[in-house]
Amino acid sequence: MASSALISETEQWKNLKQHVGEIQKTHLRDLMNDVDRCKSMMVEYDGVFLDYSRQRVSQDTMGKLFKLAEAAHLKEKIEKMYSGQKINSTENRSVLHVALRAARGKEIYSDGKNVVPEVWEVLDKIKDFSEKVRSGAWIGATGKPLKDVVSVGIGGSFLGPLFVHSALQTDPEAAEYAKGRQLRFLANVDPVDVARSIKDLDPETTLVVVVSKTFTTAETMLNARTLREWISSSLGAEAVAKHMVAVSTNLPLVKDFGIDPANAFAFWDWVGGRYSVCSAVGVLPLSLQYGFSVVEKFLEGARSIDNHFFSAPFESNIPVLVGLLSVWNVTFLGYPARAILPYAQALEKFAPHIQQLSMESNGKGVSIDGTPLPFEAGEIDFGEPGTNGQHSFYQLIHQGRVIPCDFIGIIRSQQPIYLKGEVVSNHDELMSNFFAQPDALAYGKTPAELLQDKVPDHLVPHKTFTGNRPSLSILLPSLSAYNIGQLLAIYEHRIAVQGFVWGINSFDQWGVELGKSLATQVRKQLHASRVDKKPVQGFNFSTATLMSRFLEVNTSYDKTVLPKNVI
Ligand code: F6P
Repeated sequence: MASSALISETEQWKNLKQHVGEIQKTHLRDLMNDVDRCKSMMVEYDGVFLDYSRQRVSQDTMGKLFKLAEAAHLKEKIEKMYSGQKINSTENRSVLHVALRAARGKEIYSDGKNVVPEVWEVLDKIKDFSEKVRSGAWIGATGKPLKDVVSVGIGGSFLGPLFVHSALQTDPEAAEYAKGRQLRFLANVDPVDVARSIKDLDPETTLVVVVSKTFTTAETMLNARTLREWISSSLGAEAVAKHMVAVSTNLPLVKDFGIDPANAFAFWDWVGGRYSVCSAVGVLPLSLQYGFSVVEKFLEGARSIDNHFFSAPFESNIPVLVGLLSVWNVTFLGYPARAILPYAQALEKFAPHIQQLSMESNGKGVSIDGTPLPFEAGEIDFGEPGTNGQHSFYQLIHQGRVIPCDFIGIIRSQQPIYLKGEVVSNHDELMSNFFAQPDALAYGKTPAELLQDKVPDHLVPHKTFTGNRPSLSILLPSLSAYNIGQLLAIYEHRIAVQGFVWGINSFDQWGVELGKSLATQVRKQLHASRVDKKPVQGFNFSTATLMSRFLEVNTSYDKTVLPKNVI
């Protein structure tokens, strides 16, 4: 193991550690009175407005955080990423999701090769294919147009596309393009997910897109084989060529599976799974549903933030600012979680996507060269759209644990409603909460205020809000495909910033391997016990007991069984 210059050993880190004491003496109630401070904590770029004045920081703190960024060589690391250097050192890979949304003429190199032409070759192929399917020029085996798509994939091959799909569903322009079409996802290997994903679908009019970077993920491959069986048992084996296509970096395995390589959409090992929504992983299913022109706007929104992240000074660089603030919250103030609270139902799948993006990227215990970290990196991300969350976990956020919150608000609703005679429109009602909650968290309510309100003495402790709970607010002009792309890129880069400062590798994911390999042993045992009646052996007492109990119920492996409602 190499010895490492840990960021925690730098003067800049130690200065921040010392500075924590000063911030602990402050209260957001007072910090918020300083208008100059607040003004300095508002940033705008390309319609995205960030207000971080409700973070537990002073201007001095921010100066110290910028110095920390310098000590961590943040600028150089960003440049290394954009120039295709192999910053994912444990996998010896470049990290170039920015190339996925680069303008056609841009040059970005990996291994000495400009990758942008290949990116556009695949995008052009997706445009062509999706237009053929949407127009009915590409038809199914029985001559019918394919109006429904099931995208089979898990993790990064699922969560990003699901987030973008659910965000676009109610965008008027996207919805118009999606008329008469359905896009569904099959991720979990649970057969119940198979049944749900194909419920009421007809194989004759369905296209299955198998999405897997490696084309070896056990869940995805079993689900793909299951849907292949669903198609071929109903339409014959030859129908697979018309009804199944693939997205992968592993084209030989796509061919072995039986999908025509002409119907495979490539991406590259320099795209991490959780950073792949802008590759064919997301672009293909989303273009089939909404048309390529809508998805292109999503890519353009992400590109706008890529340019900003690369070139803006740290003081006005949105991903850098929010990344540094998360480092401050997690590592210096010791808040282990982050709540993602979009006041937009269309962003209901945003937090689940960020969970993977953030926790798979930064949930690490060693530095990039393998030295155990003497501090906590990564954070627990969770969230729900407001106002639903307010009626669920906000109690804990207001009076229990301190959880820094991201409030995300939209200026113009995708689907405005105003009922004559109501005090406000429905969207203004939603946004009243978006504006109120951060202040409730920051200011709280003191016992003195409660007594003034004539609250009985015995209830005062219960009704007291300590306040001083940090949040940041992001306001987007609307939730168009372009804005969705911007939001995605802000979070992708924020997470990279955190990892760069912590000095970890945000682009590998070795932590998911152990469970997978143990499942392989269990799978072998289940087969041996069910088929050859072999006793359970080689497991600890607990696992053996649980497995034996599970195996007591006899389920037959004799014939192919597909969900009942479709056969
Ligand atoms: O969960 C581990 C992981 O490798 C993720 O990083 C990835 O997004 C997911 O599995 C799916 O992988 P693949 O696209 O190769 O099927």
